[in-house]
Amino acid sequence: MTSAQTSAQWIDLSPSPDRIGRACAWIEQGGLVLMTGLEWGGWTLPGGGIHPGETPAQAAIREAWEECGARCEVAGEPVILHNDSACYPLRLLALEPSPEGRPVAWVNPRSLPWADDVQLRQLLSARGETPAHLARPPLVERALAEAARLGFGHSCSLETGRLLRTLAASKPGGRLLELGSGVGVGAAWLLAGMDASSRLLTVEHDPLRAEVVWEGLRDDPRAEVLHGDWRGGLERGGFDLIFADCAPSRREVIHLDSLVAALNPGGLLVFDNFSPPASLPEPLYQGDAERDALFAYPELSCVELSVSFRERVIVATRTRG
Ligand SMILES: C[S@@+](CC[C@H](N)C(=O)[O-])C[C@H]1O[C@@H](n2cnc3c(N)ncnc32)[C@H](O)[C@@H]1O
Repeated sequence: MTSAQTSAQWIDLSPSPDRIGRACAWIEQGGLVLMTGLEWGGWTLPGGGIHPGETPAQAAIREAWEECGARCEVAGEPVILHNDSACYPLRLLALEPSPEGRPVAWVNPRSLPWADDVQLRQLLSARGETPAHLARPPLVERALAEAARLGFGHSCSLETGRLLRTLAASKPGGRLLELGSGVGVGAAWLLAGMDASSRLLTVEHDPLRAEVVWEGLRDDPRAEVLHGDWRGGLERGGFDLIFADCAPSRREVIHLDSLVAALNPGGLLVFDNFSPPASLPEPLYQGDAERDALFAYPELSCVELSVSFRERVIVATRTRG
């Protein structure tokens, strides 16, 4: 503990500006895990910055005490989370009121909604304990491995992938189109939701990526990979779902006409990767032409969904033929 500082509701006992990484704590007892309250609502594992001179394990123990009032000792090797935080399993020795005045909660990490919490999900995955109903489909896993191998960082998120799977399942016998295949993550999610009589065309202009996607999907007779420009996909028109996921198809509002024209009435148009207002880039403070164009389009009924705290997706239905 260094100095004390008040935050919105609670005291921050270690607000040090000098941090050399992050550490957090997995304190499990009787199948439940200890979480601490966040200033802006919700729950998180106790954790924070590692101070100079402190080991990551010491930081995890200190944060468990400051945030939860938990006296602990290290009980195993850490798991490194995606935000580079080292998460230590700690054994609880005693539990007192949180010195920072935070609320604490014991949650079941293997049951929803907790099993899908961004931190708990990673911990369960590292332990091989992801509940079967939350596991990623094998084709998605394969595509993600390709993305890691090629250093491709623009695949759709897990949350958007699940939405794609659900929307694809709403179109039995449907014709689906993806504009911009990347390395096949979005296509794999769509295929996971499609029935046996649905068909997916995915279009990618980068030859290496198109090849990688084809390698991944070649055994699935429902999938076709087109190497070329996105406009080539639209020429095959009459789609029940279009996932427009390459920048050129989204950049110009005028392209909306051709996207809508390629949709069947009742068909769905999906655009991912919108920022919520809390993380909107400053140039969009004056307004977002892409959002405005979608919502103002006469033949579309649109909704903007928060799929995670950092991403929104717009789903639009074509209302007229
Ligand atoms: C955001 S990534 C696609 C990710 C993928 N849909 C997924 O969910 O995993 C965008 C892709 O669009 C491709 N692309 C860019 N311009 C294109 C164009 N004119 N026609 C087709 N694909 C294009 C890029 O090469 C890139 O692979």
